[in-house]
Amino acid sequence: MPNSLLRVLTCGSVDDGKSTLIGRMLYECGRIPDDVQAALERDSRRYGTVPGGIDYALLVDGLAAEREQGITIDVAYRYFETASRRFILADTPGHEQYTRNMVTGASTADLAVLLVDARKGLLNQTRRHAAIASMLGIRQVVLAVNKMDLIGFDQARFAAIVADFQAFAAQLGGLEVTAIPVCAVAGDNVLAPTDRMPWYTGGSLLAALEDAAPRMAATEAAFRMAVQYVNRPDLDFRGFSGTIAAGRIAPGQQITNVQSRVTATVTRVLTMDGDLPQAEAGDAVTLVLDQEIDISRGDVLAGLPLPETTDKISARLAWFDEAPLFQGRSYLLQIGARLVVATVATVAHVLDVDTLAEVSARELKFNEIGQVTLSLSQPIVFETYAHSHTLGGFILIDRISRNTVAAGMILGTDRIASDVHWHQLTVDKAARAALKGQRPAVLWFTGLSGAGKSTIANLVENRLHTLGRHTILLDGDNVRHGLNRDLGFSEADRVENIRRVAEVARLCVDAGLIVLVSFISPYRAERLLARERVAENEFLEVYVDTPVDECRRRDPKGLYAKADAGQIRNFTGVDAPYEAPLSPEVHLTTIDAPPEALADQVVGELRRRGMID
Ligand code: ADX
Repeated sequence: MPNSLLRVLTCGSVDDGKSTLIGRMLYECGRIPDDVQAALERDSRRYGTVPGGIDYALLVDGLAAEREQGITIDVAYRYFETASRRFILADTPGHEQYTRNMVTGASTADLAVLLVDARKGLLNQTRRHAAIASMLGIRQVVLAVNKMDLIGFDQARFAAIVADFQAFAAQLGGLEVTAIPVCAVAGDNVLAPTDRMPWYTGGSLLAALEDAAPRMAATEAAFRMAVQYVNRPDLDFRGFSGTIAAGRIAPGQQITNVQSRVTATVTRVLTMDGDLPQAEAGDAVTLVLDQEIDISRGDVLAGLPLPETTDKISARLAWFDEAPLFQGRSYLLQIGARLVVATVATVAHVLDVDTLAEVSARELKFNEIGQVTLSLSQPIVFETYAHSHTLGGFILIDRISRNTVAAGMILGTDRIASDVHWHQLTVDKAARAALKGQRPAVLWFTGLSGAGKSTIANLVENRLHTLGRHTILLDGDNVRHGLNRDLGFSEADRVENIRRVAEVARLCVDAGLIVLVSFISPYRAERLLARERVAENEFLEVYVDTPVDECRRRDPKGLYAKADAGQIRNFTGVDAPYEAPLSPEVHLTTIDAPPEALADQVVGELRRRGMID
């Protein structure tokens, strides 16, 4: 395959000799500018760890330092070529954020080089890297067993490490493993074979890279393209731009907008260089159609057979946020150019990457991999990740911080959930509310324990009742005796606590009621979720703002005393967080006002908004 491109992911830690290995390949094959070369020789003499020689690691580490300025995702791409092939190396540092870095580097890689220190053998980190690479669809692995010189080029030791890895790889299924004993510092088996390990008859690392098969482009599959951009420079031209994810396209071919199911014929396939007779997977094109059909950014254009759409997916997630994922929490899901809200319906299990056992869990922590089902606010067009990395891969974004928190791979649609249909009822919310002569609403009281939520909510309900309004009050302490009896105060349990109450509040709104909810509800994410369960003008967040010292002074249930004494854990305001509302509809400052006045303030706000007469 002359001059074909191979994308390589390199994994391992600095201690394994990765910088030296990569540095050597770059130095020998790369195009290193003369001034860098001179600097490298100078620095090697001054700081190098290789007496009398060039310290290749300095080259890589130097680039790393340069790169650290301003780039947040720590993946360095390095380019080099040999007579027969071009290479892109995605180098992922082996530190803390390795999952995120690996996912970034691995999603397009054809092959992974896993570096192992011969003295240490397989580490948990090596297994993890292999598991993540395999999960991301990489099928070829080169196991480079480095520092062979430090174990006296011991064949038996090498064989044992390889056997160890083969056993692990077998569980991952279908991994093609090439194991090579190397000494990166001296260069043995890196670019050329060595005579220091006569028992090894295979080729060098570079030869393995030159011989590897690139991941097949999906040109034979049916045509798929996600629209990145609707190109409309003037009234006469309208084109749909994107990168072809699979298949081929040519003028005359029919395509369907999968979302809207409308069909049109392609009249032109355009690139920067003008019209093409045909384009295929991987090409960035603009398509012109024979008729004006409704297509927007994020839509998927496809040939037959059409891909499926779903609003319930089961997916594998690699979680890389410090804050865990919780069952019941919602996130933004971006797939191609489309953005929807995804709520975690269930966490099926977490993968123990060391043993590959599937462990049951309700949350996914930093660097964990797990399987979840997600329920989406709108249907998406998808294919399984195994089928298409483009239509089957997605990211999750935190709704509050806007951080990318996970990479996901679609395993399929969650059939059971998607077969449960929403019943269209003839007596609806409006009808029920009309009979009561009122507008339904949620008054969501949030604040610390002892802030006065229940007292004020109780007074508000009294006033509304006197006014002839139909109400219901959901109080944390009470609901936790029944519906939520099974939940405690861990982060995961609180998320679930609020999710359930948000659903109950929504049902009560459907019943036409004014619902008063009084829960600490410490997380912005869940309060946002509760807000979204009802219509926009039906939700009022009431922040009962009492400083923690005042709550502690009042301590109506003696809980602060217990929390301060360490008798109860995870107590909000003491050793568990409270995320204050940023823009509540009603902000009650309780320090100098009696509860009655605060209740009046809430009722006044309902009047002002026309929610009661
Ligand atoms: S929430 O955080 O999940 O919204 P919720 O409002 O249901 O809490 O329950 C809070 C009530 O539970 C408190 O008012 C208090 O009486 C009691 N409680 C017991 N343990 C804790 C704790 N660790 N943190 C907060 N409240 C607790």
